[in-house]
Amino acid sequence: MTAFDEAALDAAYRKALAAEKAGRAEAAATGYRACLEIDPEDHVGARLRLAALGLGEAPASAGDAYVTTLFDQQADAFEDILVRQLGYGVPGLAAEALSRLGFEHFDRGLDLGCGTGLVGAALDGRVDEMLGVDLSENMVEIAFDGGAYDHLYIGEALEFLEEFEEVEPFDLILAADVLPYLGDLSPLLARVAGRLAPEGLFVASTETFGEGASNGAGGESGFAVGRDHRFHHGEDYVRAALEAAEFTILAFEPITVRMQEGRPAPGHLFVARRGG
Ligand SMILES: C[S@@+](CC[C@H](N)C(=O)[O-])C[C@H]1O[C@@H](n2cnc3c(N)ncnc32)[C@H](O)[C@@H]1O
Repeated sequence: MTAFDEAALDAAYRKALAAEKAGRAEAAATGYRACLEIDPEDHVGARLRLAALGLGEAPASAGDAYVTTLFDQQADAFEDILVRQLGYGVPGLAAEALSRLGFEHFDRGLDLGCGTGLVGAALDGRVDEMLGVDLSENMVEIAFDGGAYDHLYIGEALEFLEEFEEVEPFDLILAADVLPYLGDLSPLLARVAGRLAPEGLFVASTETFGEGASNGAGGESGFAVGRDHRFHHGEDYVRAALEAAEFTILAFEPITVRMQEGRPAPGHLFVARRGG
């Protein structure tokens, strides 16, 4: 990690947030740009906030420093808040979708952004060898304690797909509630396809454009950073990206990802097979 002045970042970030809360978007944007001057790695997610305000270009992803900071902080409370309070159930929905399609057993699975291990738990007993990777060490520690993975790695998903030294392919790759931290899905899909066995499956969820969630920048058919600072992907965009990466879509279902400010956060769950 590059050293930066934490006190200066904290002060600039608080000032920017206060301006944003007061509805002074230009002043907030100036503040977020100041955060980036102090900390170009962007631990506070200033680039996402600028994009959500419509005053900065959407970054390629939420950024490793921001994701790591966010989930390292949230790890201990993650399951209580997300699952028990907000009704998050994507791992179970992914497991059910696979069963509905008749896929009960897998030789080798990879869970991208495995977090605390909810996907591993939902698929427990159905995958002979299960690997997980996540940027957040604190999340991975909880997954480790859960015991549903054979191997866990701390790292960025796309880098892992590119650099993992084992060449044996996977017949199942999953990403549950991880695509909202990635913008353009094409680089991810190309790497996933490269790691899947022929006819291997990719199962993932997205968030889409719910009422009030998006700043509208991406339109229904693209992707954009929403007001919640996550990427929202339109159905047409995801379908086209999967087809361009030579996946066959076996299922593409509307889901509620979780509750968000008292309303269901809409998304999609898809199961796609490598190859035509
Ligand atoms: C909302 S949590 C979901 C965790 C888990 N998949 C589940 O369904 O419970 C998102 C997780 O993705 C991880 N993540 C986000 N972007 C990532 C990336 N580019 N590479 C690796 N992990 C990432 C975060 O650290 C976090 O643990």
